[in-house]
Amino acid sequence: SKNFEYIQVSQPKPGVGQVTLNRPKALNALCTPLINELNEALNDFNASDDTTVIILTGSQKAFAAGADIKEMAPLTFSEAYTKSFIESWSSFTTQVKKPIIAAVSGHALGGGCELAMMCDLIYCTETANFGQPEIKLGTIPGAGGSQRLTRAIGKSKAMELVLTGKSFSGTEAEKWGVAARAFPTYEALMEETLKTAETIAGYSRVAVQACKEVVNKSQDLALRDGVEYERRVFHGLFGSQDQKIGMKAFAEKKKAEWSHS
Ligand code: CAA
Repeated sequence: SKNFEYIQVSQPKPGVGQVTLNRPKALNALCTPLINELNEALNDFNASDDTTVIILTGSQKAFAAGADIKEMAPLTFSEAYTKSFIESWSSFTTQVKKPIIAAVSGHALGGGCELAMMCDLIYCTETANFGQPEIKLGTIPGAGGSQRLTRAIGKSKAMELVLTGKSFSGTEAEKWGVAARAFPTYEALMEETLKTAETIAGYSRVAVQACKEVVNKSQDLALRDGVEYERRVFHGLFGSQDQKIGMKAFAEKKKAEWSHS
């Protein structure tokens, strides 16, 4: 596998790809080369027939402490604008069709919180430290935080968090629906994340990709359009082999052997 400087790439179980952010000296602050490596690794997993689902994680201490403040500090408006600073961060959200589970422990601040919210589901520790502290730096969230957080928890709570820069815990993230589940320990987080990934990796890659596509459509479409979109994709899956394999196996009380086609 490739030699990255700021991330580690692994396959903890068959069908499961993992990217571990690995810039410990800066609490995984998201400098441009790290983001480039992350996009490359995610695109590699997306293209790989050995991968059905991807885990994105950091360390116990930090998922990611945000954009790299030292890199950003001297940026001018013209540079940020003409080079579309930060736009490439979210390129994986449209390019990667396989589900990405964020496993968040420790700090997930600013761009770190935004990166977690770009993933398809979040698991975290109860003590994880989420927040959008950009206001404290004289700026605002720039990688989708004001939009994704508001969709996740509603306007009033999001407004409070973005205006005060206050953190929220993993326990709160779970209660408010930002995270699917919060776990009491780091070990439990990593174990349960892997279990969920293995469950997903046991299904048809075609159906898994379709699940991600239709659930994410709900964030962009009005309900009637979204329901119609879902039905079209559902109809489309009758053209897959795995729909036939899955339903035949059910009727025969056998385990489905997916063709992933
Ligand atoms: N950028 C660059 N370096 C960072 C960083 C960041 N976002 N976060 C931490 N670091 C560096 C620190 O500068 C420090 O480096 P040195 O050892 O060279 O001084 C090292 O990581 C360790 O950090 P601390 O000593 O501060 O560790 P701590 O445990 O005392 O505090 C923390 C942890 C509360 C997370 C603190 O580091 C912090 O507040 N970090 C910044 C959080 C932040 O504001 N994030 C938002 C960034 S803006 C953004 O993300 C814009 C956007 O929307 C895209």
